[in-house]
Amino acid sequence: MANRIQLQPSGHDFESKEGENILESALEHGVAFPYGCQNGFCGACKAKVVSGDYEYQDEYKPQPLTEDELADGMVICCKAEAKSDLTVAVEVVKGAEEIKVHNMPTKVVKIEKLADDVVRLYLKTPEDESMQFLAGQYIEILMEDKRRAFSIANAPHNNEEIELHIRLVEGGYFTPHVFNEMTEKEILRIEGPLGGFYLREDSRNDIVMIAGGTGFAPIKGIIEHAIELGKKNMIHLYWGVRGQKDIYLRELAEQWVAEHENIKFVPVLSNADEGWEGRSGYVHEAVFEDFYDLSGRDVYVAGPPVMVNACREACTKRKLPEKRFYSDSFEIAGATEGK
Ligand SMILES: Cc1cc2nc3c(=O)[nH]c(=O)nc-3n(C[C@H](O)[C@H](O)[C@H](O)COP(=O)(O)OP(=O)(O)OC[C@H]3O[C@@H](n4cnc5c(N)ncnc54)[C@H](O)[C@@H]3O)c2cc1C
Ligand code: FES
Repeated sequence: MANRIQLQPSGHDFESKEGENILESALEHGVAFPYGCQNGFCGACKAKVVSGDYEYQDEYKPQPLTEDELADGMVICCKAEAKSDLTVAVEVVKGAEEIKVHNMPTKVVKIEKLADDVVRLYLKTPEDESMQFLAGQYIEILMEDKRRAFSIANAPHNNEEIELHIRLVEGGYFTPHVFNEMTEKEILRIEGPLGGFYLREDSRNDIVMIAGGTGFAPIKGIIEHAIELGKKNMIHLYWGVRGQKDIYLRELAEQWVAEHENIKFVPVLSNADEGWEGRSGYVHEAVFEDFYDLSGRDVYVAGPPVMVNACREACTKRKLPEKRFYSDSFEIAGATEGK
């Protein structure tokens, strides 16, 4: 039997199925419930029970809680299952600054080629450590004396693995290794989550999302999160690539459109192949043509720095307030290293 869980003061209200702990149910419903280890060790998921019953799973003893916290009715949510409708008090995560940055080893569990120059990697965190993140944030892969940034392409409700979309930079230090040598089971040390590129959940404005190449990765995470939250804001997704083969997850974007009437998808080719009947040119020009006035909208842009800058300029000309332009500029790390 399922119970309902309510959070105070945020007002979130969601179902918790039998066998699920409170944290699992919250994350599954896209709620940014605070957590760390997901294993009952760190105490990051503690909350205060306002009303209702719960039981700990697997004979767990809540060792992170002090005597005072126990007396105060605190509960460790990653180990507690609701046994009736339950109300708990907890401050949900609202911004990136509230999330702990981890440095941890991860294991490559799957490598999938999405296009000639794009690979999708899935990384698994250690059994006793997991990483809370906001949709759209990024991680850094740490090597002996270098680090490389890649955006998280999955949404927080689907946090079993970390999904990355990696574009090959010819002559680069890290990405040629991914394409030519990497095998499953390789260990990669990462730091994250990082960055302030994430969905502003409280906004009711229509949204324009602009991705350039693998800039689709964080945008994918944000759109999947918005869908999970049941957001009804109009989302206009523009994806700028060179040719048709570079729209590497086109079916997924088309599926969003087919299943959600508030999502529109416009691929834009800068080097249109013969027979292409869709939009062509630069992606910022397409947005400039389609929107005369962006003053009541939110714009999210991710991709190469030139594209991000061109979008900023185009959006400013279309009256978008600077504070509602959210961007993630994919700088090439090696271009400035050692200078
Ligand atoms: C916040 C953030 C998020 C990112 N997310 C992603 C992501 O999700 N997916 C993704 O594919 N990339 C992403 N990037 C970009 C990625 O981090 C870089 O492409 C990375 O530097 C590649 O590493 P590398 O070691 O292979 O190449 P590097 O060793 O860093 O580069 C090698 C050399 O290639 C040259 N070079 C090659 N191509 C270019 C170019 N187009 N522009 C400028 N110089 C070039 C540079 O001069 C450099 O010296 C992100 C970057 C940032 C900052
Ligand atoms: S997340 Fe660490 S104790 Fe629950």
